[in-house]
Amino acid sequence: MNKNIEYYTRTAQVLHWLMAIIFIVAWIIGFYSGNFLSYDNDGSFKGQVITLHKNIATTLIFLVVVRIFWRYTHPAPALPDSMSNGMKKLAHFGHLALYFVLLALPITGCLFSWSAGHPAPVLYLFEIPRLVQDNPALLAVVKPLHIYISWAAGLLLAGHILAALKHHFIDKDNVLKSMIRQGK
Ligand code: HEM
Repeated sequence: MNKNIEYYTRTAQVLHWLMAIIFIVAWIIGFYSGNFLSYDNDGSFKGQVITLHKNIATTLIFLVVVRIFWRYTHPAPALPDSMSNGMKKLAHFGHLALYFVLLALPITGCLFSWSAGHPAPVLYLFEIPRLVQDNPALLAVVKPLHIYISWAAGLLLAGHILAALKHHFIDKDNVLKSMIRQGK
């Protein structure tokens, strides 16, 4: 955090919005497949939808590494003075939790796929080298983990979006603008 910095760097902004789009699209596709499709009724279509989910979501593993590096090497703008210390702490905790799910979802997703005997493909271009083989015991752990974390991630994301909108439209401060604009 830095009082003299008003805006995130352009790189941080591009990473933020690119990952936000990928995350939301992956979440919707995963939710759709997990809750509205079944192998009994939708057979190969469900397979194609899950493959799409994986090919999009695996990109986050690479982007999150760059993003964490960038965050540590480029200070973020300070939160507005109008926020109470409690709210600032909540915001920091929320951001930390978002980084956690950005790491945990692709990791549990890949372990889920591998342990079920499937690959973890990236953008239909290549596959992430398999770190575990078919493993029903591991599958029994990582499958529910991926699903629970995805639900927690959905709630976190909804809270994050609502908070950003409150800053912009109710508090009328610089928080949302700091992730969109650049200084003169
Ligand atoms: C940030 C990235 C990710 C997000 C936001 C995400 C989100 C989700 C969601 C919301 C579900 C549905 C959960 C439910 O049943 O209620 C799901 C299921 C699933 N995800 Fe992910 N996921 C991500 C990454 C991955 C990755 C990288 C893989 C594998 C390489 C993967 C594999 C799966 C599989 C196999 C399912 C089960 C789908 C089904 O049973 O129809 N996910 N994911």
